[in-house]
Amino acid sequence: MATTYRTELTPADRERIRAMVSSTGFFNQIEIDCSVELADDRLNDGPESGYSFVFAEEDGRVVGYACYGPIALTLGSYDLYWIAVDKSAQGQGLGRKLMDKVLELIGAEGGRQFYIETSTREQYLPTRTFYERCGGRLVATLEDFYSPGDGKAIYCKKV
Ligand SMILES: CC(C)(COP(=O)(O)OP(=O)(O)OC[C@H]1O[C@@H](n2cnc3c(N)ncnc32)[C@H](O)[C@@H]1OP(=O)(O)O)[C@@H](O)C(=O)NCCC(=O)NCCS
Repeated sequence: MATTYRTELTPADRERIRAMVSSTGFFNQIEIDCSVELADDRLNDGPESGYSFVFAEEDGRVVGYACYGPIALTLGSYDLYWIAVDKSAQGQGLGRKLMDKVLELIGAEGGRQFYIETSTREQYLPTRTFYERCGGRLVATLEDFYSPGDGKAIYCKKV
């Protein structure tokens, strides 16, 4: 199926994001609310918010999205804040396509690389595997970062 991409964010996307992120079954309520707050920041403050969005659509339906933005005081380094593929569309290469699209969009803005942070906990092994399979390189691990025994893994993907 053809995948198209859209970078404009509309108010209706708030609920699409909530539904998609919830559908993954991966995030708790605070995290789900946080994903919508990033969209609110963008809707309220525009590019000044520092958050950019890209939506993947199939047959006019949003099936995945990513949120990213430049890291202040760096020259061309970006953070990937969020990436999610609707439960119904996972395992079909969409997550990889979104990672590639983010890289393309960042490159078009003169960016050099993006960073992704995640937990070292066992629960996040699938997420870390996904980043690695999509070309992310583990560049640092901060032990006990989130809590004792729960470190931060930082991946980097270069344009
Ligand atoms: C992580 C996520 C974005 C992956 O999207 P997807 O469309 O299912 O992934 P793809 O089909 O593009 O897979 C790309 C590669 O990652 C691997 N991969 C994807 N999900 C995986 C999993 N759960 N476990 C192991 N490997 C996985 C695939 O095998 C594939 O590798 P290959 O092509 O070399 O075989 C999606 O599963 C998701 O939204 N998960 C919940 C949210 C999340 O974890 N977000 C990241 C933290 S913000």
